[in-house]
Amino acid sequence: MANVPLVSLKAGAKLPKIGYGNGTALFKSDSTTLVEGALKAGFTLIDTAEMYENSGYVGEALKSSKHETQVIAKIGTLSKIKQVAVEERKLLGKDRLNVLLLHLPPRGLDGLPSNVEAWKQMQELKDEGVADIIGVSNWLKSDIEDVIKTNPKHPIQINQIEHHPLLAGSQKQQKLLAYQREQGIASTIYGALTPITEKPEESKNLLSVLEAIAKQESGWSPATVLFKWASQTTKHGNSADEEGIIITTGKKTERYPGYLSLFNSRPLTDEEVKKVSDAGSQAGVHKVRMLKYFDGRDE
Ligand SMILES: NC(=O)c1ccc[n+]([C@@H]2O[C@H](COP(=O)([O-])OP(=O)(O)OC[C@H]3O[C@@H](n4cnc5c(N)ncnc54)[C@H](OP(=O)(O)O)[C@@H]3O)[C@@H](O)[C@H]2O)c1
Repeated sequence: MANVPLVSLKAGAKLPKIGYGNGTALFKSDSTTLVEGALKAGFTLIDTAEMYENSGYVGEALKSSKHETQVIAKIGTLSKIKQVAVEERKLLGKDRLNVLLLHLPPRGLDGLPSNVEAWKQMQELKDEGVADIIGVSNWLKSDIEDVIKTNPKHPIQINQIEHHPLLAGSQKQQKLLAYQREQGIASTIYGALTPITEKPEESKNLLSVLEAIAKQESGWSPATVLFKWASQTTKHGNSADEEGIIITTGKKTERYPGYLSLFNSRPLTDEEVKKVSDAGSQAGVHKVRMLKYFDGRDE
């Protein structure tokens, strides 16, 4: 069984530092065999979402797990938060959802609840025992502030965000990360490999920096450096176990052992982190996913 370090959340719960996601290439497809393979390889954190339309398959795969497994569920239909949470719990075959997130900020737009109203419903779901850890995804600093201002009984524990070195030069991302650290909100990170998977042309200089760092350690690749960078640059506290949680995915099972042992080798040095950040900032690209929710706020 792989020895994946745990990340401590401020409210005391712990989650593995890397999890397997059901979006991307698994989006809207039968992911049963792939999730079973990920569980067999040693993943014990599985990320899913109502929007991926495969929670039933994940629930099926979870039955094969020989180890205790934690699931992140995300609600996309923000007009029906409580109903969807209960439906997802049933599809996933869980008594309680380990982690429940609002997939997007509702912002009171198009008849949706305000961020504050939506968070009130999330707190009720926790009080009713539907979910243990509650949080958000793709929320900006100003979205989180809406809720913090109300001094909620249950704080936002997690924000699931896109994060990679191309965002190192984004003021908005830096403001968000600094605020999350101040508030003790943990990050779960998607898109850590974006410079390789989505923007290789724009990332040529960055990729050569990643290669030069990877070359120094046996078993490292540019992807290793990107995952470590993403986790180390999203700390929610000062302890070593308060770094970001990586959510990745993939159909190539041969990559899984590398993912699961990722954090058993040394961290990047401060100098390496800076080199990667600088090269990422210079690429001139910022956010790649969910741009609609990122633009026009927190400038
Ligand atoms: N909250 C949100 O809004 C949100 C948004 C997006 C994603 N997510 C979650 O995060 C999960 C991971 O997202 P992501 O896809 O963005 O993660 P990622 O870790 O950035 O990329 C994973 C992809 O990279 C490919 N890959 C791995 N190593 C590679 C290499 N060396 N060269 C080329 N391709 C490589 C994998 O495919 P193969 O290994 O099959 O080649 C896989 O398709 C999703 O499945 C989902 O659960 C959440």
